[in-house]
Amino acid sequence: MLLARYTVIGGSTCEDLARKISRKLKAGFVKTELTVFPDGEGKITLSSKLEKNTIVVVQSAPPPVDSNLIQILSLAHKAKEHGIKVIVVIPYMGYARQDREFLPGEIITIKVIAKLLRSSGVSRIFVVDIHSKMALKQFRSGGKNVSAVPDLVKHLKKISMRDPLIVSPDSGGAERARQFARQFGSEFIALQKKRDRKTGRIKIISDGLDTVRDRDLVLVDDMISTGGSIIKATEFLKKQKCRRIFVACTHALLINGAERKIREAGVARIISANTVPGTTAVVDVSDTLAAAIRNA
Ligand code: R5P
Repeated sequence: MLLARYTVIGGSTCEDLARKISRKLKAGFVKTELTVFPDGEGKITLSSKLEKNTIVVVQSAPPPVDSNLIQILSLAHKAKEHGIKVIVVIPYMGYARQDREFLPGEIITIKVIAKLLRSSGVSRIFVVDIHSKMALKQFRSGGKNVSAVPDLVKHLKKISMRDPLIVSPDSGGAERARQFARQFGSEFIALQKKRDRKTGRIKIISDGLDTVRDRDLVLVDDMISTGGSIIKATEFLKKQKCRRIFVACTHALLINGAERKIREAGVARIISANTVPGTTAVVDVSDTLAAAIRNA
């Protein structure tokens, strides 16, 4: 069997992860340089010429989401001009929370992005812990979700905890928490969260929970944006007299001082994956992604 020859292009948002993936695939690595003009337009320059290989574009879509998405489309387009096959890895996929028309008139932008990616000639799109199955469906058969949970669990297992319990901050994340708990070897619960669709304000509406008393908790979520969900859950759980609270999430965007606010609310440690670089991104998902690409 002829082994695929890969070239990995590292987008501006996750160069380190892209480099790690390229090493694992024994692939060539092409760096990108981004220049942003005063009017907000970006110009991407590749560090070297692309060879006629399977080209793997690695670029996340954290804020500024729209401009990062344009970079993904531009890189995919360039890859298609030179490569035999194009694989796009979007470790953090923005717009995945807007997966349906919550209020009349809302546009499902992820549908548009998926269509643009398909029409740019991409054959496979890998995402990590995309927010919902509905969002993933927009990518049709070319889309594949890869889970960072095994890597997060491996990291969390190194921390000594007393009677740990896995907690999802909302019922939507119950399945994720269940998977996490099964691999971690503990029980799980899911809180009930209510979000005002207009103001974005969050409220925890669970009754008092005696199960959390005197236990170390791991709050598990797919992502942290403003930290609102984690802070509300932490305040609620602290009132129920739990011990320490750890947060394990895949994508830590940590907008507007969210990291500080979460710590001030009483979280002992935030652990996230390197799908979005940052101070909490201590869990490397390059092995998991390289394995998924090899099997594509
Ligand atoms: C919501 O359902 C998600 O899983 C996250 O809990 C949420 O999007 C995080 O956003 P924020 O940090 O702004 O509350």
